[in-house]
Amino acid sequence: MATLELKNVKKSYGKVDVVHGIDLQIDSGDFCVFVGPSGCGKSTLLRMIAGLESITDGEVLIEGDVVNHITAAKRGLAMVFQSYALYPHMTVRSNLSFGLENLNMPKAEINSRVDEAARMLQIEELLKRRPGQLSGGQRQRVAIGRAVVREPKIFLFDEPLSNLDAELRVAMRGEIGNLHHRLGNTMVYVTHDQVEAMTMADKIAVLRAGRIEQYGKPLDIYNNPVNKFVAGFIGSPRMNFLDAQVASIGSTGVEVSSADGATVTLDAAVFDASANQELSIGVRANHLQVVDSDKGEFVMEVETTEQLGGETYLYGTVGQSEAFTVHLPGQVKIERGEKIGVILSKSETQLFDKLSGQSLRR
Ligand SMILES: Nc1ncnc2c1ncn2[C@@H]1O[C@H](COP(=O)(O)OP(=O)(O)OP(=O)(O)O)[C@@H](O)[C@H]1O
Ligand SMILES: [Mg+2]
Repeated sequence: MATLELKNVKKSYGKVDVVHGIDLQIDSGDFCVFVGPSGCGKSTLLRMIAGLESITDGEVLIEGDVVNHITAAKRGLAMVFQSYALYPHMTVRSNLSFGLENLNMPKAEINSRVDEAARMLQIEELLKRRPGQLSGGQRQRVAIGRAVVREPKIFLFDEPLSNLDAELRVAMRGEIGNLHHRLGNTMVYVTHDQVEAMTMADKIAVLRAGRIEQYGKPLDIYNNPVNKFVAGFIGSPRMNFLDAQVASIGSTGVEVSSADGATVTLDAAVFDASANQELSIGVRANHLQVVDSDKGEFVMEVETTEQLGGETYLYGTVGQSEAFTVHLPGQVKIERGEKIGVILSKSETQLFDKLSGQSLRR
């Protein structure tokens, strides 16, 4: 088990800065997920930790030691890639043992590590096959096995499941979770899939354009996003946003009104808003109550409904043009084209400054 720390880590390619000074402390044994949109610097950051990419500025520390100038092979890490990167002409057993043979490890030790990893990952029957004779999921398990046999201090994963179909992805998600539970190693896992992040992580680092926007436990981030970007990125369906403005601040609370005149009053003890401030109201699809159109805080025009039996999704617009989603448990008799009233669950509603996007929660 090992801690991993990043201190003001930067990366530039020529004159282009892609990572802007990242500070991060990953505790020993934590499963940390880097999540963010394409191009935000997740792989670059992971590759700098791995030693596959030079560090322009700042420090990477493993177990408290600066490793900037230590080669990838000597950092005690193992990386699993999206592409698997298996040797096609070698058997599964050789793919697993190859790295260890290069370290001149005794044959008996290599065999016992390979057998143990194969048992753990349930690929014992496949050891004599070549990668071309395996399914995508089996190949991914071999790629993970190759990391396991090295008994690394820290595992690094770069989108290891993105080549798998949806069902297999869910299954492998569980298997990687089990692996982490069994081995207890520190793991860093890169994905752009926020569901993977939510379900697998002890801690999530949400990245945008080379910066960490928020670092914390999945539900803390879900419940208290620091800004509109994080609020919109984490959680499915995406959080609903409505443009609004502070109409008044008084003893009853912060009264917020949208462009079309709908108003909602929120707790002034919770939100630090100023008079006339322009903002975005944020509310998740499952934090809404549906009522008659003249009894709600906002009127929604329903354009599409999804009746899934156990749950119902309503898609439409509120006010001028903003896309709005409502998620209700069970079955609801609402047709497309209908106008409904929605009431926001106040304790779960968010306010963000319109310009900076920062959360106004105190
Ligand atoms: N060798 C390179 N030279 C110049 N720019 C690069 C190089 N490698 C990456 N970049 C740029 O650095 C930024 C971060 O890339 P990176 O691959 O880390 O993103 P990512 O978050 O992993 O994205 P994805 O989810 O698509 O894999 C991108 O804007 C990319 O174009
Ligand atoms: Mg990447």
